[in-house]
Amino acid sequence: MSEPGALADRPIGVFDSGVGGLSVLNALRETLPRERFVYFADTGHAPYGERGDAFVAQRTANVARYLRERHDIKALVVACNTATAAAIHALRAEHSNLPVVGVEPALKPAVAATRTGHIAVIATRVTLESRKFEVLHASLSGQATFHVVPCDGLAGAIERADDAAIARLSESYLRAAGAFGDAPGEIDTLVLGCTHYPFIATELRRHCGATVRFIDTGMPVAQQTRRLLMQAGQLECDGNGAVALVSSGEPGALDAAAARWLVRPAAGALAAAA
Ligand code: DGL
Repeated sequence: MSEPGALADRPIGVFDSGVGGLSVLNALRETLPRERFVYFADTGHAPYGERGDAFVAQRTANVARYLRERHDIKALVVACNTATAAAIHALRAEHSNLPVVGVEPALKPAVAATRTGHIAVIATRVTLESRKFEVLHASLSGQATFHVVPCDGLAGAIERADDAAIARLSESYLRAAGAFGDAPGEIDTLVLGCTHYPFIATELRRHCGATVRFIDTGMPVAQQTRRLLMQAGQLECDGNGAVALVSSGEPGALDAAAARWLVRPAAGALAAAA
């Protein structure tokens, strides 16, 4: 058995299909500045959002095993709504001795925030068609009207940093959601149900106006991670927020995304076959 101190010194694993989970990593580093992190971008298999559940569940299982075996992680943050929807139950069953935190579209905070009672939810198709989302949506359907829009191709465009596609898709998906504004019947709250989307907040705002509230899940996920580590007695680590970047695709692409979007710098990315 390892000493409790040695257990606490291990890194927290953070995983996404690609670069989107860096938005959650920013919140984690802010909330847990003394920890160490390993960020795994499954870029070699991204995007997940228009694949089948079985594919996403298999990839998630492989990545979780890799992070445990190679990096000895003490907790896993699935910083991907799509992977959470498809695989969180299986993941928790396989790794019952590991704290596992997932993300889901923040419908409850959106209900608390809306004044008009109209909320737009943008996410991947796999997330929105999942049983998990169906249950969440049904449990809140009496409390607000949700305008749900699957955004095929948007996470992929963000992965490729394809600004023209990001602008075109943002415009068309927000138009499909309905009329935004503060008047009765208008949408005043937008749920960013994919961890890639906080990085295009400026572009999204161009198509829905300055007053719309954006709701994402980075901070609540970071706080939940902190709670679980505290319960497990594994909070203290002298890692100073250091991040090891690992990619199943081209490490240079992850380095470029990290340089652009991480609030604090990370070391250069390594390639991995998970
Ligand atoms: N960032 C992911 C999410 O939160 C998935 C994007 C994708 O791979 O399609 O759902």
